[in-house]
Amino acid sequence: MINIKQAKTIDGKVMDLAVHSEQEMTIDATGLMLFPGLIDPHVHFRVPGLEHKEDWCTGARAAIAGGYTTVFDMPNTIPPAVTAERLYQKKQRIDAELKSAGIPLRYELYFGTDHRHFSEIHQVKNDVIGIKIFMGESTGNLVLDDEGMHAAFAIAATQNLLVAVHAEDATRIAERALQYKASTNYCDHSNIRDPEAAALAVQKAIALARWYGVRLYILHVSTSNELALIKEAKEEGLPVYAETTPHHLFLDETVYDVLHGRALVNPPLRGKHHQQALWQAIFDGVIDTIGSDHAPHLPHEKEKPYGGCPCGMPGIETTLPLLLTAAREERLSLEKILYLTYHRPREIFQLPKNDDIVLVDMQTPRTVIGASLKTKCAWSPFEGRVLTGWPKCVVVNGQYVSC
Ligand code: DOR
Ligand code: ZN
Repeated sequence: MINIKQAKTIDGKVMDLAVHSEQEMTIDATGLMLFPGLIDPHVHFRVPGLEHKEDWCTGARAAIAGGYTTVFDMPNTIPPAVTAERLYQKKQRIDAELKSAGIPLRYELYFGTDHRHFSEIHQVKNDVIGIKIFMGESTGNLVLDDEGMHAAFAIAATQNLLVAVHAEDATRIAERALQYKASTNYCDHSNIRDPEAAALAVQKAIALARWYGVRLYILHVSTSNELALIKEAKEEGLPVYAETTPHHLFLDETVYDVLHGRALVNPPLRGKHHQQALWQAIFDGVIDTIGSDHAPHLPHEKEKPYGGCPCGMPGIETTLPLLLTAAREERLSLEKILYLTYHRPREIFQLPKNDDIVLVDMQTPRTVIGASLKTKCAWSPFEGRVLTGWPKCVVVNGQYVSC
């Protein structure tokens, strides 16, 4: 049994609790705030094939340091997780790495979709959290065209699987890339992959969800254009859910000047009015969840010129401190943070309840220093920010793990 003494709850009570465990220990939680183990519905832990960027030892340590005890991992690895055999091999690798890290992190896997492997979906349907569709090109090579989208949605409907979409329109991106082809400016990334590219794809995905009767999870929503469509779909009663990311909430396109290639991410960073719309949508309940979209690439990779520089940034360790710091500034409530990072993902993905907890120091400010983070890539787009609300320790699957 793990006995936790004097933990503070988000509604201001102080309580003792016991978590079932083979370990016998007492944690003095005086001054710490108690949260359930959080759920990050969107990470790229890079196994197999891209372990130089992250693996499940470093990824799990980063997740725990961020207060997460459950993560959903994406299929755009090398090779991608698009066959049953690869999915089960990946699970074996993950289990072995978590064992060697000594962290019983909970995880779920998304299954990837490409034209050649649709027939594999039914074999894995009970072992995946959903299928992931890339509508626009990003890390990996998994883009589906319209015909492929129809096929994937049709299968998802018959197998009762949730579909998660990376919603950026490939045709629109290709056209705009031609217009900007002479540009070597990182900031043109936001012009090439513009808000219209995101909205076109969201519109298409919602139409397919309506037609096939599929539950649709829209990953990393970043624009007011998408939010308007999602709001309408929700009002219509469609099972459409929206995720946004810490980088779209806390960074905007002005940071290209400072971060250069490190600011590149798909979908790209946006202007301030989109960012404001995301905050409003959190308030209004149009945004359901926050996924870190933790997508580590190494610093030297992010220094490459535009065209060769990979898109994506790490985030799992800083998401909760960013949100808790925003809560201190009264930009959102602690209840809302829990809704976005725990209650709502649990509901949407129908996860069983567990006993996991995280204890958070709500008082001591700490500066984000990339080199001190647990992620293998060892940098952060939030470098230098002073945040308050850093996890101290978790109990995951009955095991105490210090952050
Ligand atoms: O910026 C991104 N990076 N967007 C994605 O869709 C993929 C991710 C990655 O895996 O690096
Ligand atoms: Zn992603």
